[in-house]
Amino acid sequence: MTVLPSAPADVLHRTKHTYGLMRDATRMFRTLAARHGDPFLLPTLDETYVVTGDPKHVAAIFAADPDVMDPPSGVVEPLLGNGSVVLARGARHRRKRRVLAPPLHGQRMKAWADVIATAARSAFANVRSGESVELLTRTQRLSLDVIVRAIFGMTDPARIALFHRVVGAVIEGLPAWLLFAPWLQRPMFGVGPWDRYRRAERALLDLLREEIARARATPDEARDDVLALLLAARDEDGAALPDDELLDELRTLVIAGHETTATTLAWALWLLHRNPDALVRLRDELAPLGRSPDPAALATLPWLDAVCDETLRVAPIVPIMARRLARDWELAGAVIPGGTMVCPAVMLTHFDPALYPDPARFDPARFLARRYTPGEFYPYGGGARRCLGASMAGYELKLALGTVLAAHRFAPLGDDSIGNVMNGITTRPSKPLRLRAL
Ligand code: HEM
Repeated sequence: MTVLPSAPADVLHRTKHTYGLMRDATRMFRTLAARHGDPFLLPTLDETYVVTGDPKHVAAIFAADPDVMDPPSGVVEPLLGNGSVVLARGARHRRKRRVLAPPLHGQRMKAWADVIATAARSAFANVRSGESVELLTRTQRLSLDVIVRAIFGMTDPARIALFHRVVGAVIEGLPAWLLFAPWLQRPMFGVGPWDRYRRAERALLDLLREEIARARATPDEARDDVLALLLAARDEDGAALPDDELLDELRTLVIAGHETTATTLAWALWLLHRNPDALVRLRDELAPLGRSPDPAALATLPWLDAVCDETLRVAPIVPIMARRLARDWELAGAVIPGGTMVCPAVMLTHFDPALYPDPARFDPARFLARRYTPGEFYPYGGGARRCLGASMAGYELKLALGTVLAAHRFAPLGDDSIGNVMNGITTRPSKPLRLRAL
């Protein structure tokens, strides 16, 4: 039986790997894969991970029996709640996905086309010529607008603004250092970081409870937002989603669906302006649609689609699709003991020169030249835990990017060397992404 190659496992190396994982996981994975081969064992202070970027191993992990591939751990529980689909396993996970998937299905996206276009126009409405435009703040506003309208059917601007503040406080209240430090997650006389986070979380849950109560009090056949559909949904035994689970699913959708799309959209705008050929080709594709393009037409543009995929390749938001083995399982000819975390590392696969020649180059044309398999391109993860919002995100990215570019012109600004760095379980740009408005 094969033994997987391992990085050195003494305390010094475990400490070094733990630090490397927090600081620059991509660089560390690349160095270790080059030194030890793929897959390799990565010993950290917590535990030893099995890491792979090899498409055939990644595909095997995604195709495995879902009952073997449990969710990684409860690290995200304070953020998403223990009723969240993200933390569910086995039959419970499958049941939850059956309820959550239909309201987020690709066919329903068309209902949100105008919501997305309006949110895109309004997020960039006050941009003035010559201004330095910080992209992420605006794309966050845009994606939160979309999510609260799509999920709750919310239209009152004051209520939407309140949601913005409360969700922002929750996300900022739980930075990576607090998320990964359970020993700091305790009250400190009402003034510590954990107390602050809990207050923000309570405010969000109160808002969500109000939305649930409002939707129940005013049942409306015409309502087609996600909440209305979830309230009406029944599982195969005829049971509705229990209230505490509904609450955690709603906060999961708001948190998982907001920051991810916002960061990808900000990267797309920034990367296009660093790569003039790709931008010119996109402007040529958009030109016939005018300054207020029809969303249905935007959704069919091939170069726009390729630009979004290439952005998700070079700047994937979730860097590791971790799974915890429920029992012993075989990978690359080696038996991996149950309880081990196996981790497809997106940045290894997406930057493999055999799959993506000259991988550091932003080149959307590669997505027109060939189709990538689920083990080769997986910004939305894969298998039984693949992102439930992938259709919505892909549609929103295209519509928002096309709408913003049709109405505005920008020039590159400032620093060229902005990296995609780990920020807890997701990634973020290492510096603010800015463009100059023309
Ligand atoms: C560009 C935007 C997005 C990216 C890159 C993204 C990426 C991901 C990834 C990588 C996962 C984990 C998959 C795995 O472990 O295999 C995930 C899970 C999930 N995402 Fe997204 N996501 C995005 C947008 C959204 C949106 C808009 C929603 C919903 C409104 C959403 C809802 C979810 C949910 C509910 C899960 C958990 C699925 C499960 O555990 O079964 N995501 N997403």
